[in-house]
Amino acid sequence: MIIAVDGPAASGKGTVARALARHYGLPHLDTGLLYRAIAHNVSREELNPEREADAVAASKFPDSLLDDEALRSDEIGRLASIVSAHPLVRAALLHRQKRFAARPGGAVLDGRDIGTVIAPNAQVKLFVRATPTIRAKRRHAELRARGSTISLDRVLADIRARDLRDTGRSTAPLVMAADAILLDTSFLSIDASVQKAIELVDHRRAHRLPAG
Ligand code: C5P
Repeated sequence: MIIAVDGPAASGKGTVARALARHYGLPHLDTGLLYRAIAHNVSREELNPEREADAVAASKFPDSLLDDEALRSDEIGRLASIVSAHPLVRAALLHRQKRFAARPGGAVLDGRDIGTVIAPNAQVKLFVRATPTIRAKRRHAELRARGSTISLDRVLADIRARDLRDTGRSTAPLVMAADAILLDTSFLSIDASVQKAIELVDHRRAHRLPAG
């Protein structure tokens, strides 16, 4: 079974995807990390994220980089949303993601275009969302816990800018697949979000109509 989990930044999609992978015993790929790895290379090599050729030149990285905590910073997330708009960057990461999705026992992938581009035939597609204000509050609390002094307004502005870039780009924009199930986590705790996601997956598996 392939489970595709898409949604905007800080919607809870990563937490939900990880929990689903654990619950169903499937391997999990956080595809945002791939774009973050390229952003990290761009930053380290002082390249221009807006230039497609620069971003492509930074698109080779070892798997070990994906475990680097530095990838999780907000600045790298911001740069990732810039480099990810380049079609050639997306093309450079396409096969790796498709190969992961095609693993024999199935897989859980989370990102922005999993249900639309990477795994359009996924048995289950979830689109996880929450209001921008709630996402900003969550991200703000996370950053504060890591010692940051950033203001809530700034985090909200960053989230809105990222949403605009991710939904507005012409290649693989963030959009809910026609056959995805919506999971709004705005007023759900983490546990309740995960519980709801498992119910939705079980329901879709039990009632899925044959493809075609
Ligand atoms: O999910 P995360 O915040 O780690 O993603 C960082 C950025 O990478 C996103 O803002 C988005 O622009 C990009 N991304 C993407 N397609 C994916 C996953 C992430 O364009 N499948």
